[in-house]
Amino acid sequence: MSNAKTISQESSTVEEALTALDQGRLVGLPTETVYGLAADATKGQAVAGIFAAKGRPQFNPLIVHVKNSAKAAELVDFSPMADKLATAFWPGPFTMVLPHKSTSPVHPLVTADLDTLAVRVPAHRLAQELLAKYGHPLAAPSANPSGAISPTTAQHVRDGLGGKVAAILDGGPCDAGIESTIVKFEGDDVILLRPGSITPDMIAAVTGRPPVIGKGTPGTVEAPGQLRSHYAPTKPLRLNAHDICGGEALLQFGPAPATAAAHDAPLFPLSATGDLTEAAANLFAQLRAADASDAAAIAVMPIPMDGLGIAINDRLGRAAHD
Ligand code: TXA
Ligand code: MG
Repeated sequence: MSNAKTISQESSTVEEALTALDQGRLVGLPTETVYGLAADATKGQAVAGIFAAKGRPQFNPLIVHVKNSAKAAELVDFSPMADKLATAFWPGPFTMVLPHKSTSPVHPLVTADLDTLAVRVPAHRLAQELLAKYGHPLAAPSANPSGAISPTTAQHVRDGLGGKVAAILDGGPCDAGIESTIVKFEGDDVILLRPGSITPDMIAAVTGRPPVIGKGTPGTVEAPGQLRSHYAPTKPLRLNAHDICGGEALLQFGPAPATAAAHDAPLFPLSATGDLTEAAANLFAQLRAADASDAAAIAVMPIPMDGLGIAINDRLGRAAHD
């Protein structure tokens, strides 16, 4: 985020963190697993700021943190089995991927436009205090630049992302030091997507049978592009369009070309001013809106391949090929 001031060596107060979140800025948040890079999950530009700060080349879906099961139930649908697991392991280092409610205020960039949402109730005292006072869900991946080691102290966050966060809460060294266990559900099966300190045996003790180990390399999570439910438009999508053809809707980035007016093309601005953070925040909603329009096809203007543009182009490339 360009307007984020560089924070000092001193750690921030909860009040400073609340103000930062309210302004759509980023906060270094201690949890019992690792430090999170938190933003208000309902604010698209704030969530886009997470991806910009981490330098992620893709929009991976993020975990949303809430104060308790009741707050989680405002966002996702619980099955009886998910209820049991929540009772057993929340608050704690345990994340569940559950059907995302249509009434949820969580921004589509958080889920990478999947129809599921990953939720977790962290146990750390400061995370609990911030969630209680702020009220809104917080999206938070680990607070490290993409590809770097996960941070387990406030100083790690300061070293890796100090210039990009508006506040860092210092909760001391993290207890677990590895990210939360992630599960999803398929029929009666619990699928382990990422191992963590809640072990398969602990899960089996609650559900009565061992979880199925998710496909892919142990320790990694399915990439969002491989998830079957990943949204792709039904209409053809043409990339790097400098001009527009008859019948096309335009995903606009910067000033629209003269041919757009000539063809009376419906415009779906990602960012009329060419701002990448704004474009990232608008991407999924505008892709859906263009797909739902009367146009026969969709054209998208060139997006520069730097910063968030890399992730935007990655997603558009997938949408064009699916
Ligand atoms: O311990 C943790 O979980 C830390 C702390 C900060 O809470 N957070 C964390 O978040 O590790 P993150 O965003 O780095 O990890 C989220 C992982 C991603 O790799 C993503 O692929 C997976 O969870 N994920 C999130 N939503 C998903 C979904 N709807 N379906 C499948 N996988 C999902
Ligand atoms: Mg991480």
